[in-house]
Amino acid sequence: MTLTAQTAPVTVRRARTSDVQYIRELVAPLADERVLIAKEAVAYYEGLQEFRIAQDAEGNVIGCGALHVMWEDLAEVRTLATHRDWRGRGVGHLLLEQLLADAVEIGVSRVFCLTFEVDFFQRHGFEVMENQSAVDPQVYSELLRSQDEGVAEFLDLARVKPNTLGNTRMIRTVRG
Ligand SMILES: CC(C)(COP(=O)(O)OP(=O)(O)OC[C@H]1O[C@@H](n2cnc3c(N)ncnc32)[C@H](O)[C@@H]1OP(=O)(O)O)[C@@H](O)C(=O)NCCC(=O)NCCS
Repeated sequence: MTLTAQTAPVTVRRARTSDVQYIRELVAPLADERVLIAKEAVAYYEGLQEFRIAQDAEGNVIGCGALHVMWEDLAEVRTLATHRDWRGRGVGHLLLEQLLADAVEIGVSRVFCLTFEVDFFQRHGFEVMENQSAVDPQVYSELLRSQDEGVAEFLDLARVKPNTLGNTRMIRTVRG
């Protein structure tokens, strides 16, 4: 997928192992601001196939985003980040559109996110989640068995609240 931004074409592609260092560089300042949660390098390698990378015409990594499957019909957009120098030029849009297309391709029908960027996600069809009605009680009890922090965020569990204070939980449906 390619767009022509203000100065140069931007391409979105699957992540490679060599991108992990750049993903970590994108996440680090946002983790300092408590916007994203930084993870150990090993977690990015383990989750690498969830990631899409945005690169500029020279091949520099300028953005990233991941789609993490939670359940048969449910996945989370996580670690969506555009380099500061590239914000407001459609890179986040391109990444998110690709992640939503990935969701359709693998059979997911609903996509969740936890974010401060409410306007951006609303423009992409997400709505604020008012309660847990997105999952039935049976699935909720199964999801409780997950060790994943993102799933805990989705379930709004107390143990992740110190890290997610002020974030908005949002969800949208996607179609195949
Ligand atoms: C959320 C985030 C990824 C958006 O990235 P981005 O590359 O700036 O996104 P876009 O450029 O597609 O859209 C941003 C704004 O620029 C505008 N814009 C989009 N394309 C544009 C273009 N070609 N030219 C000018 N402006 C444009 C849009 O109106 C949009 O406004 P909105 O946010 O009110 O919808 C970025 O702000 C970020 O890294 N935030 C920190 C991490 C985070 O909170 N991630 C979400 C939780 S996982």
